[in-house]
Amino acid sequence: MFTDDTLKDQTILITGGGSGLGLAMAKKFASLGSNIAICGRTEEKLINAVEDIAKTGYESAEVKYYTADVRDYDRIKEMVDEIVSDFGTMTGLVNNAAGNFLSASEDLSPGGFKAVVDIVLHGSFNCTHVFGNYLIEQEQEGNILNMVTTYSESTGSAFVLPSACGKAGVLAMTRSLAYEWATYGIRLNAIAPGPFPTKGAWSRLVPDEDFEEKFLSKIPANRYGEKEELANLATFLMSDMASYMTGECVVIDGGERLAAGQFNFLDKMAPREKLKGFFKMMKNKKG
Ligand code: HXC
Repeated sequence: MFTDDTLKDQTILITGGGSGLGLAMAKKFASLGSNIAICGRTEEKLINAVEDIAKTGYESAEVKYYTADVRDYDRIKEMVDEIVSDFGTMTGLVNNAAGNFLSASEDLSPGGFKAVVDIVLHGSFNCTHVFGNYLIEQEQEGNILNMVTTYSESTGSAFVLPSACGKAGVLAMTRSLAYEWATYGIRLNAIAPGPFPTKGAWSRLVPDEDFEEKFLSKIPANRYGEKEELANLATFLMSDMASYMTGECVVIDGGERLAAGQFNFLDKMAPREKLKGFFKMMKNKKG
């Protein structure tokens, strides 16, 4: 489906690109010809990531890191200037940096709520606003991909209130700007991943085996997502193959979000063959 030049002539910034899903996307994009800029708060992590990405990169792709906290608007402005000066252009942005932790909402401190919402929502706004203005001033088309979650829409989620609020805001921003900035040729889409095991998320959200077992049992596909699967979807959305798609949120979760289906629980009640026998018996019942 993809070729070595699927993302040729692109320069994509991935926030939080030093680890986890951000790093997986960076590697994939580089291997398909894109120049890569990654940013994050921890320089050591970024240095290691650059080495890692360069190994998988298409030979002409360049990779650079920028130390930045997405909460700091002035630093983001400075960083985008640096990227443009280093690469000559910036064509794409992936708002991937996130913060999250488990807490009963009544025990949250205002500071805890603010920290997560600042990273997730304000951070995504900061990068989007700076990059969007750059594109508009340059009269250049561009592409923005926002990482949200399966609980951004309709359900929210207990015990991760700041993340649920922040990500819902990011989804609203995706759709609002997809309409408003279509006139400038700027596309915005979102990906809503279900559980993908990464160190950052798992250490904060899936602390032990019992949790892990419960998490897994909610996924009809009966497995977690592979980073490569998410990177493939991100590549498609960042490429010209998706040039008519904007304001869309694509879920990638092995069916986890469908758990509310009224009779889905039957699957957990008995092995499939036993269930089938039960259904047969019901078919033969009259009245
Ligand atoms: C309650 C907590 C807390 C916790 C921090 N706080 N951790 N409160 N439970 N576990 C509170 C602090 O007490 C403080 O409140 C405020 O949050 C800020 O904490 P700091 O450590 O000073 O902030 P900071 O260094 O900026 O760290 C931000 C962070 C941290 C969000 C708290 O966890 C972080 O940096 N995370 C980045 C990586 C990450 O979270 N990755 C997972 C994303 S996964 P006071 O009141 O004292 O100021 C994801 C996917 C979701 O989002 C879907 C998965 C299935």
